[in-house]
Amino acid sequence: MRQTIIAGNWKMNKTNDEAVELIQGLLGHEGDGEKVRMIVCPPYTALCDISRAINGSKIYLGAQNVYFEESGAYTGEIAPSMLLTIGVSYVIIGHSERREYFSETDQIVNDKVRLALKSGLIPIVCVGEVLEDRENGKTEEVVGAQIDGSLKGLNGDQMKKVVIAYEPVWAIGTGKTASPEMAQDVHRFIRDRLKNNFGDVAEKISILYGGSMKGSNAAELIAQPDIDGGLIGGASLKAEEFLKIINAV
Ligand code: PGA
Repeated sequence: MRQTIIAGNWKMNKTNDEAVELIQGLLGHEGDGEKVRMIVCPPYTALCDISRAINGSKIYLGAQNVYFEESGAYTGEIAPSMLLTIGVSYVIIGHSERREYFSETDQIVNDKVRLALKSGLIPIVCVGEVLEDRENGKTEEVVGAQIDGSLKGLNGDQMKKVVIAYEPVWAIGTGKTASPEMAQDVHRFIRDRLKNNFGDVAEKISILYGGSMKGSNAAELIAQPDIDGGLIGGASLKAEEFLKIINAV
């Protein structure tokens, strides 16, 4: 049985006070944290206070980014150890917004994933095609190359700890969701690729869908055999909306 994960990516939203208010609305609704795991990924500035707020609960804490060096003269960057010591367990790596606006390549994603794993963080590695790729029939080519490049050099033991998020870029924040069948096709393709690259561990890896997931479409997406949860942006910013997704699964 793969773990179902519902992760909220708050992106560059919520001041510290707003973040604490949001988490208060989620506490107590997270279930046992095993069958369905709730993760919240606030901005860096709110991580400490959210970490304190969820202490003793079954909500898990994620960061939205991390650097690929352990320490040093990298102004503005944050190392894995800094996240771990304040109670962060997960980190989103290679989100399409990082790839697009901050020029993150598969190589950079791979460097980040390797240091995150070595440090003890669980990476949520994002892949996904842009609209033009899809329209040109290049979805598998693009997503396959991202999977290969982002996870290059990892072994099966390391892969057991990795979470993948398939996020078609054209569906992020646009209100356009991939149909459950469309998403399932790519999730299956990703799992086959993981199997090809890493062997049977592929069956144990949770692959999340992201891109305009909300309470009204979460159940049918997650009912697909290879969709193991969601990475949610917009609908994670209000407790009641996020809980609709949690309740739907
Ligand atoms: P969205 O964002 O749910 O607002 O489409 C998803 C994501 O970017 O992780």
